[in-house]
Amino acid sequence: MNTAPRQLIAGNWKMNGLSLHRSELVKLVAALGAGRLAAHVLLCPPATLLTDFVTIAGDMVQLGGQDCHPAEKGAFTGDVSAEMLKDAGATYVIIGHSERRQYHHENDELIAAKLKAAWRAGLHPILCIGESLAEREAGQTFAVLERQLAGALGGDVAGNVLSLAYEPIWAIGTGKTPQNDEINETHGFIRGCLTKIGFPPAGPAILYGGSVNPQNAAGILALAHVGGALVGGASLKASDFLAIIGAARVA
Ligand code: PGA
Repeated sequence: MNTAPRQLIAGNWKMNGLSLHRSELVKLVAALGAGRLAAHVLLCPPATLLTDFVTIAGDMVQLGGQDCHPAEKGAFTGDVSAEMLKDAGATYVIIGHSERRQYHHENDELIAAKLKAAWRAGLHPILCIGESLAEREAGQTFAVLERQLAGALGGDVAGNVLSLAYEPIWAIGTGKTPQNDEINETHGFIRGCLTKIGFPPAGPAILYGGSVNPQNAAGILALAHVGGALVGGASLKASDFLAIIGAARVA
């Protein structure tokens, strides 16, 4: 019997989605049916849609936030806390996405605090790491990833539930991806870093993210070190997202 854990196929809608787009989730849930899926399925819509989506998602689709504030509550206009996401029906939260690092100047210290907030609220965080094109071309990919991991996962955190997403910044929304053997090698490197930090060898799932689509999903998800996918653009349409879910490795 294959005892490998089921892969996690996560959709990140980013700042896309109005109430009328609930129809995509309705289609997704209907197509997934009620049987045991090969993969865990997660959708991270904008926070404004969580309370509505929770009424549709049922048991087949988990819901997540795209970011959270480190504090539980307080005078932080415009922010959403991990506790609020949980209260709205989320079970996961994305932390440290490169768009947050870039447009909101999030640094490792803040990302570490957000991870702790997710754990405090009982959410499962997905920590995103990844190199820029310049860093890749300078041969710094592994050094960057190791630094991001050490910065976000300092202290005694290895007992906590966690997933990782390796998202090369130059692959996000561009239609470009690393070669499959490069993805596998990088995931293997990340696994080694996590083990050094103290996580068990079969610990956090390591998702790949960056231009995953129905055409390339099967090749990427077949890689030994890949524990799932974090999907942006191709998660917006139920038909594309379903094709990617259908490409998950059968556990
Ligand atoms: P993409 O985005 O699939 O549109 O490249 C992935 C992500 O940013 O999580």
